[in-house]
Amino acid sequence: MSWRVLGIESSCDETGVAVVECSPGAPPRLLAQGLHSQIAMHQAYGGVVPELASRDHIRRVLPLTRQALAEAGLALADLDAIAYTQGPGLAGALLVGAGAAVALAASLGLPALPVHHLEGHLLSPFLSADPPEFPFVCLLVSGGHTQLMRVQGVSEYELLGETIDDAAGEAFDKSAKLLGLPYPGGPHLARLAEQGRADAFPLPRPLLHSGDLNFSFAGLKTAVLTQARKLPAGDAQTQANLAASTQAAIVEVLVRKSLAALKLTGLKRLVVAGGVGANRRLREQLNEACQRRGVRVHYPELALCTDNGAMIALAAAMRWQTQVADAQPTYSFEVHPR
Ligand code: KG4
Ligand code: ZN
Repeated sequence: MSWRVLGIESSCDETGVAVVECSPGAPPRLLAQGLHSQIAMHQAYGGVVPELASRDHIRRVLPLTRQALAEAGLALADLDAIAYTQGPGLAGALLVGAGAAVALAASLGLPALPVHHLEGHLLSPFLSADPPEFPFVCLLVSGGHTQLMRVQGVSEYELLGETIDDAAGEAFDKSAKLLGLPYPGGPHLARLAEQGRADAFPLPRPLLHSGDLNFSFAGLKTAVLTQARKLPAGDAQTQANLAASTQAAIVEVLVRKSLAALKLTGLKRLVVAGGVGANRRLREQLNEACQRRGVRVHYPELALCTDNGAMIALAAAMRWQTQVADAQPTYSFEVHPR
């Protein structure tokens, strides 16, 4: 018997709706997905404005749901469960997706399944053409989180280390802002870095030799600020050099700590998830380092690195299939912003 789960993601500045099908003995399948990014709307403010985010999720969530169902050739009656992001994220934004999901589920008599946003990211590579197998080490690198985990199975996660201040995505975004690049800066900084020399600026690699698996990126941001202040106006090459040096510092720490986590656990499989997982340089360096050590690396499809509804539907379907999730219809709900 197969399960079809509709997933709604609304934790930050993307409204994502998708349908995932899970059948026993077969890999999960993404049947359709719709995504609306609010980036253009928030860009004028240099960051996400929570109130505007909530209002836009309200405008988008039902049209996207209709669109995803139409694309999958399905009706609401063909669904088996409705999943939603419970947190972490912006409270108002989460309430929109959760409210819509629970209302839909209640009207259809289906289970409403809350999903932890990070579990969505972590499991997203299972929708790729090269899905991982358990157990593995997961490097989860998003705008809000940077964590290394030992993953034994669905819902069996052991935190090995995490950032003690800024997340890797935040380090990209804040450094990009200092370089005068638009929000969200990560992809812009990465693009500019392609033109620059990574060894041009000696930037710190915080906690590289700390002996644990924790990260710290706040000091790097301060070092970038110091260098950005000294940048000669209009010198595009030096600006690109600083972008390349910043990216190199972040990537080196992520790679070295991932290797340390693999060594500590003795595992030979690494899964990278979250928005920063889309970074080309990070992928290149990880691929190279892991190949030398006989470690297989798995990534989500590029389009599923950043926030989306597919990973929420998938995580709910996998939790449900492994009977971790409670499939009883309960229609009271709460969101967990932190
Ligand atoms: O996972 P995600 O969509 O949202 C959170 O759950 O936080 O990640 C967004 C983060 C942002 O910080 C964004 O700048 C970063 O991922 N990002 C990148 C790239 N693409 C997205 N950072 C570096 N290089 C990229 N190519
Ligand atoms: Zn995310």
